[in-house]
Amino acid sequence: MPDVDNLKNAKKFYTDIPQKTEGFFLKGSNSLDWGMKNRLARIFNPETGRTVMLAIDHGYFQGPTSGLERVDINILPLVPYADTLMLTRGILRSIVPPSTSKSIVLRVSGGTSILKELSNEDIAVDIEDSIRLNVCAMAVQVFIGGEHERETIINMTRMVDLGTRYGIPTLAVTAVGKDMKRDARYFRLATRICAELGAHYIKTYYIDDGFETVTSSCPVPIVVAGGKKIPELDALTMAYRAIQEGASGVDMGRNIFQSEVPAAMIQAVNAVVHKNETPEKAFELYNTLKNES
Ligand code: 5RP
Repeated sequence: MPDVDNLKNAKKFYTDIPQKTEGFFLKGSNSLDWGMKNRLARIFNPETGRTVMLAIDHGYFQGPTSGLERVDINILPLVPYADTLMLTRGILRSIVPPSTSKSIVLRVSGGTSILKELSNEDIAVDIEDSIRLNVCAMAVQVFIGGEHERETIINMTRMVDLGTRYGIPTLAVTAVGKDMKRDARYFRLATRICAELGAHYIKTYYIDDGFETVTSSCPVPIVVAGGKKIPELDALTMAYRAIQEGASGVDMGRNIFQSEVPAAMIQAVNAVVHKNETPEKAFELYNTLKNES
């Protein structure tokens, strides 16, 4: 019991100052509960409203991808420059120090490999493990138009329901199958379906033509994947255009960890995302850091 002798009278009530009720900074997220918002605010920087997610979850269906052979050696040095790490629980537990203060987005769908039909996924992580690992969001692959479209949509809605129970957001990862057309019409369809069914934010791909119609018709934040490795200036240009056309960040993997100098590249991407740096200036930064390294 606290010491209650000689208690001071409470008198600082500031009756002339109304309590502020702040809106939440993130698109479409104002009606979420406190825990959801707090987790999203650890993924998206509240000062810029944007995020640099470092995606290193590729091994869950394709094994030790180039650049991810040794996550301890190649990836841990990049962590300070990311807002969020997107990865599997296997890599998280075996390699990432629990002392990290970075937010974690956990890959929770799986069950297939590059040797078979990739859309045949299920939920591969119990919600209790996501809670135990203190994650800020759970990522589920959704294959709109894919062979197992229905199952993957239901995987996502199950995670939205479970995550809502515990205050953990769901990231819908829109996958593009080999035979799917990557155009604005397809991405509007895929992202909107995920948002309508409850995803809290959505990962999709940048397209040169009409990307702003994808971001504007999606009521929750969109982050863009990097896709296959392309020259550094082209990747920075893609990230710049995506941000200027309404994306709330990147969820970038290969264009960072397969870069000639990954630490320089992630810092250049960070400048594009958080400082609106032009691709040319960011590329200059990349080259300066590369020469220093
Ligand atoms: C793999 C993923 C990746 O995390 C995502 O595609 C981002 O990585 P990259 O920039 O290399 O495309 O979801 O399924």
